[in-house]
Amino acid sequence: MTQSQARPTILSDCQYNIVKQLEKELQFLWCVDGYIKDAEKEGDSKCAEAFRQIKADEEKHAKMLKELLSDFQRSKR
Ligand SMILES: [Fe+2]
Repeated sequence: MTQSQARPTILSDCQYNIVKQLEKELQFLWCVDGYIKDAEKEGDSKCAEAFRQIKADEEKHAKMLKELLSDFQRSKR
């Protein structure tokens, strides 16, 4: 991380990493239905199913990260 990319000091490194990763998960989840529709439009059921599975995995990851954030909030650590 360079000086210009310094994280806000109100978050620990762990909290910051959780927020950044949650952002990535949510950005993917925002787009993935379009990927599935594209695959279906092209008749590629294998690709559509792969994105459905990835979506389910990423939803689990996003929930895990959200719970970690809630834990931080509850414990004020
Ligand atoms: Fe993930």
